[in-house]
Amino acid sequence: MRAAIAGTGSYLPEKVLTNKELEQMVDTTDEWIVSRTGIRERRVVGPDEATSDLAAEASRRALEMASVDAADLDLIIVATITPDYMFPSTAGQVQRLLGAHKAAAFDIEAACTGFIYALSVGELFITSGKYSKVLVIGAEVLTRFVDWEDKSTCVLFGDGSGAAILVPSEDEDKGIISTHLHNDGQMWDMLMAPAGGSRMPIDEHAIANKLNTVKMRGNEVFKVAVTKLSEVVDEVLEANGLREEDIDFLVPHQANLRIIQATAKKLKLPMEKVVVTVDRHGNTSAASVPLALDEAVRSRRIKEGDRVLLEAFGGGLTWGAALVRW
Ligand code: ACO
Repeated sequence: MRAAIAGTGSYLPEKVLTNKELEQMVDTTDEWIVSRTGIRERRVVGPDEATSDLAAEASRRALEMASVDAADLDLIIVATITPDYMFPSTAGQVQRLLGAHKAAAFDIEAACTGFIYALSVGELFITSGKYSKVLVIGAEVLTRFVDWEDKSTCVLFGDGSGAAILVPSEDEDKGIISTHLHNDGQMWDMLMAPAGGSRMPIDEHAIANKLNTVKMRGNEVFKVAVTKLSEVVDEVLEANGLREEDIDFLVPHQANLRIIQATAKKLKLPMEKVVVTVDRHGNTSAASVPLALDEAVRSRRIKEGDRVLLEAFGGGLTWGAALVRW
């Protein structure tokens, strides 16, 4: 038995923040942001929106596509590093908002790789036979956790959410073929938010120094990302006895167009076969892969029978990939 994706959905907050607007906020230029990252604009939540609101809306759309009733869901997994609360879980909030009263619910935290991790866990609940309807979500409100005076990070991130419904498939050629998860805790401090956890609770010092916001050594992260994503692509091909030309679509994490292009080159894939949303979404961390996937599914770029490679890289440092046969 395999776990198949029966429906996808995504949601972006209405407010658009362009590079031109950022030029008024920090010492940056549209030219710098576009040439270094490929980002032109990103979305920002409204004052009353939180991560679970975005997640619930993406989920409603995925449920509709899959023709699944929220009341029939067995499990909800939310991948996020920007939860509504320290506790309880954002997945629990989504359960409440959807009226999915039967579903178990928990969060996964693997930064930008979160959706790949969540998909992998959801797959195991399906293939073990324990559950038959699993909702997997990546959702983030990163704009509430960036330092708007730090030009090296604030231009990169955006808000959004994406979701997928997993169901059992008896067709061995359809569904999640393999998943590959990695973490290197030695590189934990390259990308992190120092305050807000048990090691450094938020106090006056933390607030004054904005230690509850994203800190990143971008250049170092960039180099590790290109190397590790190349390795994980090889791992997927080798594990499944495939060659580069057997991959029909790449749905990469949307952090930086240059990283995406490097992975496409590694796969010898033309850019028409790569889903790119970073120009309009920025880096939405765990939401970026399911957002891009939903866009490609709804525009019918991804078709039945396609082999789709999902990959991501982020804080942890974490990285991973999933091969899905559509
Ligand atoms: N506008 C103008 N200049 C800037 C800006 C900006 N927004 N940001 C930095 N600069 C300047 C720097 O000050 C530096 O100036 P200097 O040379 O005078 O010192 C110069 O630009 C180069 O800075 P770098 O950091 O070396 O720039 P780089 O080319 O590496 O691009 C970037 C930075 C875009 C962050 C890139 O390193 C990157 O994409 N890294 C990977 C990010 C990533 O993949 N993260 C993982 C996922 S995120 C997650 O898990 C939450």
